[in-house]
Amino acid sequence: MQTPSALIIDDDANFRASLELLVQREGFATRGAASLAEARAELARAPADLCLLDLTLPDGDGLAWLREEPAPFAGEVIVITGHASVDSAVEALQRGALDYLTKPIDRARLRTALLNVTRTRALKEEVGSLRGELRDLGRFGRMVGRSKPMLEVYDLIARVAPTEATVLITGESGTGKELVAETIHARSARRNNLLLPVNCGAVSPTLIESELFGHERGSFTGADRQRKGYFERSAGGTLFLDEITEMPIELQVKLLRALESGVVTRVGGTEPIRIDVRVIAATNRDPVEAVRSGKLREDLYYRLNVFPIALPPLRNRAGDVELLAEHMLAQLNRESGTSKVWSRAALERLRRSPWTGNVRELANVVQRAHILGDDEIGPEALPLAQEVPVEHAPSGGPVLQVRVGASIGNVERRLILATLEMTGGDKKQAASILGISLKTLYNRLNVYEAYAGGAAESTAVSTPNNG
Ligand SMILES: Nc1ncnc2c1ncn2[C@@H]1O[C@H](COP(=O)(O)OP(=O)(O)OP(=O)(O)O)[C@@H](O)[C@H]1O
Ligand SMILES: [Mg+2]
Repeated sequence: MQTPSALIIDDDANFRASLELLVQREGFATRGAASLAEARAELARAPADLCLLDLTLPDGDGLAWLREEPAPFAGEVIVITGHASVDSAVEALQRGALDYLTKPIDRARLRTALLNVTRTRALKEEVGSLRGELRDLGRFGRMVGRSKPMLEVYDLIARVAPTEATVLITGESGTGKELVAETIHARSARRNNLLLPVNCGAVSPTLIESELFGHERGSFTGADRQRKGYFERSAGGTLFLDEITEMPIELQVKLLRALESGVVTRVGGTEPIRIDVRVIAATNRDPVEAVRSGKLREDLYYRLNVFPIALPPLRNRAGDVELLAEHMLAQLNRESGTSKVWSRAALERLRRSPWTGNVRELANVVQRAHILGDDEIGPEALPLAQEVPVEHAPSGGPVLQVRVGASIGNVERRLILATLEMTGGDKKQAASILGISLKTLYNRLNVYEAYAGGAAESTAVSTPNNG
């Protein structure tokens, strides 16, 4: 930050000189003006971050100056007067003055007031640079995008981050929910402490209670020593409860109780332990639907949903696909010392893709294209199926050419791999399109892996228009 500058407006030359000295000692560069006219001229010559304004001046009243519209001055104002009155103090503050000091100046009071100026200025700079960052670069921390719905998301994050509010992040898989949680944490007062992510769907239902709340020694078979739970371990930090609807419903009751009371009890324990944790939850389900179908307790939903953030699917973020693709490619270039660029045709194809797997799918496609593509990456480095919306797959989708004489096993394998490619690696969706269970799909993939080298054959897919 540059040295802040102050303009001292007072007609008493001696007082002005001694005040300039005091203000300089607090790290400001100073100038002086003996009247409002001189002040105007000084400000026209060079702006100042702060005006220290005497209320009684030879050519007018300092308060009247503050009343002028538009404001004569964009920086902060501290009013100084030898004739203190509550009325003028109140009016000065209402007019936006940061503080009000009386003569003779108390050094400690002056120092506090100046410290406030520096803080306000730092905050304004941060907000200003934040706005600039959003508009010009399409960036917010590690998040990339400048589509209207994403700018709204940034705004929500900026507003909620410094608070202690519980946040519920919703959005399809791969839309960046975890990244939003990280961004909120990074912009909160808890940023120097832990952000602890817990995937509620991945912890076994029998263990999740002791994982969350901890347990005492001997509280169940295998509990051979006392253990702290996530709530205790993330003290001072943020607990990210991912896939919250996958948490067993009985445990949701206990979670709600913990959030309401601010205390937890370890499994097998009786002592209440005070918790100091900010909770951010996420789900890729529609939470209202999850409440309706009994996956999410309604009372917990209301408690978590204090501040909802809904992430738009990538297909609704006009312009962001190109921006993300450029950003991701630049990063890969940096990491591997290459300087590959997108061809127009490749970018066009990326833009037209449905992105059912959202940003994660795009990241995978970019990574693959960076490996496969030339210095100018052409569309052939992109999976062909990208162009075709999955919903239309049966009629307009990619075609698998089968030569009579091929074995059913071989065709099955090519169809499975091609379908996976079309869904961007989303196995659940691939299984549903193929009409087989997820388990069957996994079994098949395990077999293919055992025989290895199968992926190459998936390139035998073509779209009708490409021949
Ligand atoms: N706006 C963005 N800018 C840059 N990278 C992003 C953005 N959104 C997501 N990503 C990246 O995409 C990937 C997926 O994001 P993330 O894991 O946050 O998604 P998610 O919504 O939590 O998905 P899931 O529901 O499957 O858990 C990550 O590698 C993340 O860094
Ligand atoms: Mg996630």
